[in-house]
Amino acid sequence: MAARKESTRVAIVGGGPAGLMLSHLLARDGIDSVVVERRTRAEIHATVRAGILEPGSVRMLVESGASRRVLEKGDRHDGIELRIDGDGHRIDFQDLVGQSAWLYPQTDVFADLADARERDGGDVRYAVQDVTVVGVTDAHPLVVFTEDDGSAVELSCDVVIGADGSRSACRKLIPDAQRRSYFREYPFAWFGILTEAPHSAEELIYAASDRGFALISQRSETVQRMYFQCDPGEDADQWSDARIWDELQSRVAGNGFSLAEGPITDRVVLPFRSFVCEPLRHGSLFLAGDAGHTVPPTGAKGLNLALADVGVLHEALAELLLGGSASGVDSYSDRALARVWKSQHFSYWMTTLLHEQPGASDFDRRRQRGELESIASSRAGSAFLAEGYTGWQHAAVAQPVA
Ligand code: PHB
Repeated sequence: MAARKESTRVAIVGGGPAGLMLSHLLARDGIDSVVVERRTRAEIHATVRAGILEPGSVRMLVESGASRRVLEKGDRHDGIELRIDGDGHRIDFQDLVGQSAWLYPQTDVFADLADARERDGGDVRYAVQDVTVVGVTDAHPLVVFTEDDGSAVELSCDVVIGADGSRSACRKLIPDAQRRSYFREYPFAWFGILTEAPHSAEELIYAASDRGFALISQRSETVQRMYFQCDPGEDADQWSDARIWDELQSRVAGNGFSLAEGPITDRVVLPFRSFVCEPLRHGSLFLAGDAGHTVPPTGAKGLNLALADVGVLHEALAELLLGGSASGVDSYSDRALARVWKSQHFSYWMTTLLHEQPGASDFDRRRQRGELESIASSRAGSAFLAEGYTGWQHAAVAQPVA
């Protein structure tokens, strides 16, 4: 059966937050796009991801009309607690850098974007198969795929966006000789749970203890997200609920504090890795989000970085497709990568600051506590953390979100 021929200006491979946000922003400029996504909408929705948004991400969601819910349902967090061997130190973002972070789960960001695309008549094809991209150095690349109903489509476009996640197939279209990959594996992972329990504290707790790292995060008034550092080979199903709670409690214990416990409804072991692909462009192909880079989860930079890519890419594409100027697309990779490497450093730094390194010497451990104390006890050190956590908004120009 011959493939149905279609055309659009921007073909977006991947319907996660990066792909949907770009499609949404382009539509506001009157630029057509088609999003093709391998998974069903329900499958993406069920993926549990991080929950912290930088103010710049919130602004993008609100000002573009993609989400009002983030301001209504999201929780503004003006700081975090660094808990060092049971002793709490507050990092006050508002006082230090005049910013806040927002607790709003990625699942909700995805739902808002998917709803916005549906509401605005956006063309998003979920559950497609056999996606192949050809001719990214030709005038009109093609994205070939099979629809949910079995029909074949040949989509011609001006530009292809690879927003197809960390196992990106689009990335491999950049020839080996022109693509450089930077990797870092870490010798630990996170054991993550969802629990039906009330908040244990108002703000997120990042705890360093001699048993290893723990993070007490939140999802809602009644559902909490918690993590503790574990071996990457750990089998989450081998752990009883009692053992999980014991591990979490022991890592945050001190000054009479304990976690509110409840039924554990989800558990997962998350691997840690840092990855960057350079450049993020080849011909008419542009990579955005996890397709171009992955960060370890400490500091929750992944989604924020994906949205930052999309902000730069959207402007560059509008210049190209509406104004005929290639200067924005020519500088996209360098501009996006500048932020990517800052976020890589931040995620790596928060990770190594707070986690137990297997095989660490006594010197290594004492030095690490010295570093933590330097951050917690110094305004400059705390401000460095606050600035990175809230996404390097420059106080003089940044508009507070709400
Ligand atoms: C989360 O809520 O999943 C989360 C929050 C903060 C992080 C990482 C993950 O640093």
